[in-house]
Amino acid sequence: MDTSSSSQAWSQRFESTLHPAIAQFNASIGFDIQLIEYDLTGSQAHAKMLAKMGVITPKEGEELVNGLEMIRQEYLRGEFRPGVEEEDVHFAVEHRLTQLVGEVGKKLHTARSRNDQVGTDTRLYLRDQIQQIRAQLRQFQQVLLDLAKDTVETLIPGYTHLQRAQPLSLAHHLLAYFEMAQRDWVRLGDVLRRVNISPLGCGALAGTTFPIDRRYTADLLGFESVYTNSLDGVSDRDFAIEFACAASLILVHLSRLSEEIILWASEEFSFVTLTDRCATGSSIMPQKKNPDVPELVRGKTGRVFGHLQSLLVMMKGLPLAYNKDFQEDKEALFDTVNTVRACLQAMTILLQEGVEFRPAQLAKAVAADFSNATDVADYLAAKGVPFREAYNLVGKVVKTSLAANKLLKDLTLEEWRTLHPAFEADIYDAIAPRQVVAARNSLGGTGFEQVRQVIKLAEEKLIEIGD
Ligand code: ARG
Repeated sequence: MDTSSSSQAWSQRFESTLHPAIAQFNASIGFDIQLIEYDLTGSQAHAKMLAKMGVITPKEGEELVNGLEMIRQEYLRGEFRPGVEEEDVHFAVEHRLTQLVGEVGKKLHTARSRNDQVGTDTRLYLRDQIQQIRAQLRQFQQVLLDLAKDTVETLIPGYTHLQRAQPLSLAHHLLAYFEMAQRDWVRLGDVLRRVNISPLGCGALAGTTFPIDRRYTADLLGFESVYTNSLDGVSDRDFAIEFACAASLILVHLSRLSEEIILWASEEFSFVTLTDRCATGSSIMPQKKNPDVPELVRGKTGRVFGHLQSLLVMMKGLPLAYNKDFQEDKEALFDTVNTVRACLQAMTILLQEGVEFRPAQLAKAVAADFSNATDVADYLAAKGVPFREAYNLVGKVVKTSLAANKLLKDLTLEEWRTLHPAFEADIYDAIAPRQVVAARNSLGGTGFEQVRQVIKLAEEKLIEIGD
């Protein structure tokens, strides 16, 4: 069997060809073709190294590198479309290379295996994607920050248990998401360190008999270091799992924001309006405007969690070293990357031009509730009344006010004073929503001064590079 022209790429110990359905079942070309550019770059580095170390001649090295470049051009022109008979992208490239450069093409696979090759390709792919996702996170943060700058003094009800709790600066609320995205950005930088290690040269599992230079290929490919143990190098997928975990957390954050926007856009909350740029209509109810974008983000979150789960389960029982189960990592990774990227993009656009806050509605909301009750208790506590005593007293006031259909601001000074002699005319100012927010000036609190300082720090964070 001539392996350069045959559709079956393995050794001559095989006597018959694969059952067509099994060939299809076994093949990964349908999805790992996405790795082709990384496969070509990795192979070029390998060929250069073989030439440098005298395993092949300089001329042979050059022929291989040039042939691989020709395949890249063919692929980019849309002319290279390997089918299922090639099994995977690695065989497809080697086969095409041999067609293009002749016998020397068969030397490319000296001193390596598809096992270290696929690990190299996957890491190069993920490294690129992580860098792009981090850039997207930065854009998302920038939009949140721009919105925050305009809304420091816009008030919004704050909730716990989805019950009105204390009013907030809208900027403070938005900046909570900025902080989550900041952790996501840092976390991905940390994952990147473990993605950026070269398994190339680990061979099938045990290294190679050839005098290779692993550090040289690692340098050419921009890897920070090389795996110390060849078995670990070919069978480590921790980096993929860590990435899926970091991606899952990004989706948790986007999904929580989505949920809030969906609530805010409802008639019941009426805190935002959805613009026509990002909302859709109903096919039957003409009055409807639906928050499809945040709903889809919330909905897509599940599949990313699912990929994390599949990767964990895929790995848990595998003996060292390579097992074909690993081939299953790719679709999980690709879909995780594509989903995170699409959701980040959609949410950034949604914040930029899909939602408009309704300041009048927000102001009405914070003025019409008992979310200033803590401030009455704080008022008394500041005058020496033990907090728990003050708290109990305010509880009673809320009860009687509710019964009388009044808000705290509607009580007369006389009423206040019969409740407790410590009340004075400044109680009205102390419970006005704006003051309630401004007064929470503790570190990290919603007070305007605090929020302005955080905005300054956030601006500095956005110009940080590295991790
Ligand atoms: N397509 C395979 C994968 O994605 C490449 C590695 C194959 N190695 C092997 N020993 N069969 O994992």
